[in-house]
Amino acid sequence: MKNNVTPRNHELVMADEDLILSKTDLTGRMTYANEIFKKFAGYKEDELLNEQHSIVRHPDMPRAIFKILWDGIKTKREVYAYVKNLAKDGSYYWTFANVAPDLDLDGNIVSYFSVRRKPDRASLEKIETLYHEMLQAEKKVSRRDSIDASMAILNDYLKARNADYDSFIHEI
Ligand SMILES: Cc1cc2nc3c(=O)[nH]c(=O)nc-3n(C[C@H](O)[C@H](O)[C@H](O)COP(=O)(O)O)c2cc1C
Repeated sequence: MKNNVTPRNHELVMADEDLILSKTDLTGRMTYANEIFKKFAGYKEDELLNEQHSIVRHPDMPRAIFKILWDGIKTKREVYAYVKNLAKDGSYYWTFANVAPDLDLDGNIVSYFSVRRKPDRASLEKIETLYHEMLQAEKKVSRRDSIDASMAILNDYLKARNADYDSFIHEI
């Protein structure tokens, strides 16, 4: 299903105790979503299962963040990211996401899962500014060059703070 939802400026805010959970196959197709996921995203179970996780992708998210996510989990690492998601009615909701691979006994990746918590507000303000700059950089170049363009902004940001992505994400 193609995501043709029009975003609107209406925020849904997670509660402290909310956990938004999902699982996917190796290609990012959803195999599980919990009740809280369905509540925020506004989709019924049968609208989510077997669909790509990008069904909740928000256009304000820089592509470089999803590259970091996939590069990490495909190499058996867990990745944390601030992710703005798009609900079916066009609302948005910010999450602090942990995405990780599920390994079988031989160490092969069999699926991916994610747990999203309520993000810290002060961190979000910084993230929104950074993501905005990354997105602007993506829009200035062709689609082919867009990930490199926004990754360069992120890398400059990290370099100025003498941080790598993993330390930055926990300290911001
Ligand atoms: C377990 C798992 C959870 C994911 N959760 C989200 C999510 O909440 N929001 C999102 O936009 N992308 C999520 N993704 C990434 C999507 O698969 C996809 O890479 C992203 O939406 C960018 O889509 P695009 O490449 O079509 O632009 C997740 C991927 C995995 C494997």
